[in-house]
Amino acid sequence: MASHDPHSYADLEQAAIRHVTFDLRMDFGQRQLAGTALYELDRPVQGTLDLDTRDLTIVSAEASGRPLSPELGSPDPIRGQRLRLKGLHGASSFKLQFVTSPGANALQWLTPAQTAGGRQPFLFTQCQPHHARSIFPCQDSPSVRFTYDATLDVPSPLAAVMAAAPIGREESGGRRRFTFRMPQSIPSYLLAFAAGEIDSRDLSPRIRVYAEPETLDAAAWELAETEAMLAEAEKLYGAYPWERYDMLVLPPSFPYGGMENPRLTFLTPTVVVGDRSLTNVIAHELAHSWTGNLVTNATWEDFWLNEGWTTYAERRILEALEGEESAMLRAISGRLLMARAMDRFGWDADATRLQFSQAGIDPEDVISHVAYEKGYSFLVRLERAVGRQAFDAFTHRYIADHRFQSITTEAFVAFLRRELPQAARRVDLKSWLYEPGLPADAPDFPTPLMDAVSSVLFDLQEGHPPTKDGVAQWNTTQIYLFLQYLPRHLSLKECRALEDALSLKTTPIDLFLSQWLEIAIQSEYRDVLPVAEDLVGRVGRMLIILPVFRAIVQAEWSRPRARPLFERVRSGHHPITVRAMENLLALQGL
Ligand code: BES
Ligand code: ZN
Repeated sequence: MASHDPHSYADLEQAAIRHVTFDLRMDFGQRQLAGTALYELDRPVQGTLDLDTRDLTIVSAEASGRPLSPELGSPDPIRGQRLRLKGLHGASSFKLQFVTSPGANALQWLTPAQTAGGRQPFLFTQCQPHHARSIFPCQDSPSVRFTYDATLDVPSPLAAVMAAAPIGREESGGRRRFTFRMPQSIPSYLLAFAAGEIDSRDLSPRIRVYAEPETLDAAAWELAETEAMLAEAEKLYGAYPWERYDMLVLPPSFPYGGMENPRLTFLTPTVVVGDRSLTNVIAHELAHSWTGNLVTNATWEDFWLNEGWTTYAERRILEALEGEESAMLRAISGRLLMARAMDRFGWDADATRLQFSQAGIDPEDVISHVAYEKGYSFLVRLERAVGRQAFDAFTHRYIADHRFQSITTEAFVAFLRRELPQAARRVDLKSWLYEPGLPADAPDFPTPLMDAVSSVLFDLQEGHPPTKDGVAQWNTTQIYLFLQYLPRHLSLKECRALEDALSLKTTPIDLFLSQWLEIAIQSEYRDVLPVAEDLVGRVGRMLIILPVFRAIVQAEWSRPRARPLFERVRSGHHPITVRAMENLLALQGL
């Protein structure tokens, strides 16, 4: 489907990439990938082909045995550099040789000290949204899909894994060559691989967990219920389309909770807490197998189609496994995350719309809980307008009709009007999709699980902080919600009481710490600063550390510590995380 993607130089009128054969060699000393890629196009190119790159060096280019002279345009902060290939003269394939830069946005090169084992270096990719172009020249738009073959050449004794089917492995001269094949077509943002000291364990005939040897036991235990989730997801959305669902638990610097790389979800180790209470991240990434990876947003302007639908599917899977109350509670928590994001943007800001023009905007600057939770609320609104049965039948058709395709918000609206006209009539689509803030008819999510939390919050307001016994029966989502709803400024006495009642000094759940430290710092509870500084250095997941770092930057008493803290921890963080921290410092002129 042709659509204009403001974040890509690709011109799909020229031709579209359909298959790539990669050969990538990892050099940990230089922090560099040296690669060749053979591209096959959907049609012969008459004249010119434009590709996306960022921080790449093009070593050579050829088509039909003839050298091409590649032209790199001037760097744009958002799109990177256009690579223009001229004189293709009807060729429908071409070959490029290239080298990445040590600062490539899609790559994080870890020293042995930054891994759990401490023995070997580690490399992982994170391409979403627009970073694949820092690994290889491509049409880096989610509207272009291709299959691929790949060889990853790594130093022995490292292992390489990829979001693809492993085919083979050979060893010689101190190097190992792993080969992969991806038979299902993917957009560039789902290209993914990693290398390091990686072991694995089977959880079911189609599910395996990969992790460093030190974390494998705990990871395998934590993720043991994945097959049950997969079975529920198949009941809801049809047969699993990617054959295998494996997971890779990354070192702590991984910047996200999870990333839905097909066949191989990437996961933060912060979900491995010993009680399986954070595995909703798995339900989420698994759900992307249908909503996102199979039916894909055409551009990042349509991101809600990926994340809103996936948040909806995540909660349906969890509802089937844990019951409706639990799903409602998660929805309340999500709604509050969304409201805080809208507070930060301003409730009439463009970033609070589900869809808006992102020309000249870095998608990473506007990605937020809005797409997830306003998108989720919109879909629940549609569901409640027509009843679940009709909505589920619609969802089935939506997925079946758009398999392995990319779709715009407008195409979704057209499909909805045709296939679920009652919903399109009863719900104000224009205000939900294109207007800022949250529409007045947003669904609410009543549950007694929340009432318990509200009553303890009320007592606190009345001057009676909770006791250990008062919250002993709460599940993880309830505690998280309680922390989310706490006033942002507390007295020191209240801080100490809460720290004790919720065992915050010893909790293994960094997500709790994140919520708590944000409040504690804003409340000038100075005792927590070492814990906060430790967290910001130890964890990479942005959802966890950015609120804490933001609080350190904003509170006057801790502000002088912000820049030195950043300088101390930056070398351990992912390029994306470093950029986000720099933005926070810049906001305060630091
Ligand atoms: N696809 C996202 C992660 C992402 C989004 C990476 C945008 C880069 C740009 C992934 O599926 C996701 O949403 N992860 C969440 C999981 C949570 C909502 C359960 C996360 O990382 O916290
Ligand atoms: Zn997601």
